[in-house]
Amino acid sequence: MAENSSKLSTKHLLGIKDLSTEDIQLILETADNFKDVLQRPIKKVPSLRDITIANIFFENSTRTKLSFELAEKRLSADTVSFAASSSSVSKGETLIDTVNNILAMKVDMVVMRHPHAGAGVFLSKHVNAQIVNAGDGAHEHPTQALLDAFSIREKYGDVRGKKVAIIGDILHSRVALSNILCLQKLGAEVMVCGPTTLIPKYIGSLGVKIEHNLLKALNWCDVANMLRIQLERQDIKYFPSLREYSMMYGLNKQILDSLDKEITIMHPGPINRGVEITSDVADSKQAIILDQVENGVAVRMAVLYLLANSKD
Ligand code: CP
Repeated sequence: MAENSSKLSTKHLLGIKDLSTEDIQLILETADNFKDVLQRPIKKVPSLRDITIANIFFENSTRTKLSFELAEKRLSADTVSFAASSSSVSKGETLIDTVNNILAMKVDMVVMRHPHAGAGVFLSKHVNAQIVNAGDGAHEHPTQALLDAFSIREKYGDVRGKKVAIIGDILHSRVALSNILCLQKLGAEVMVCGPTTLIPKYIGSLGVKIEHNLLKALNWCDVANMLRIQLERQDIKYFPSLREYSMMYGLNKQILDSLDKEITIMHPGPINRGVEITSDVADSKQAIILDQVENGVAVRMAVLYLLANSKD
């Protein structure tokens, strides 16, 4: 992509892996403009008036689904939303048939969450629409990483040079991989922290620091991104009990207050209060968890707007 271009280098958003640093900067700068729009009394622009978007969710979601739906409405797109649990998928319809049937109704863009890694890439090769990955299994969650980077940039002015510790269940997390790739492209230093069993072996090859001691990770970082234990993706036991995990890796106010500096606390949600983070931390002034959610709408508006302008 040429410098100062107002177009993304990709037709789809399948993962942070496919975005250049310039693409990410363009998304964040465009999101700045949309965040301004969202502060106005009339929070709506006509940018995607001729675009139809289908949101197809094969996995549960609160934040991502509502945030995409709201972003689409704010951009004046026409939208349809589809939950696999109440669809003909339960009668045996394939993913390609399902999406092609939706596309036959003249849909331009598909926002998809799917339990299988690579589902978005697969779809992008088989259907004639732009695909936005809203989370594919334990692989990538690109818009979460973009809104996380936007929130760090909003807090500190720049992501470059910041030290970010991603703490918890790295093994089953799509947020972790997308955050690592996005933060590194923007010049941050990244550490992962958790029990050995929840840190995948390949992670060192990504150039991140690895730490198993929570206090050391917290003392190192400017920002701690606390991840949920994803019990729904765990087919074996990775630690003795949630209580024991919480004792070793749970962040409480006593630990937070014992640090020499004031760090920022992030969480992609949903939070398991009392497991990875206590309520007094989640609701503290140091936590920017609801800012992340607020920023998600502006960032997703930016992604949809830029993709709609990158297809030619
Ligand atoms: N952060 C996130 O993806 O939350 P949801 O699963 O509620 O969309």
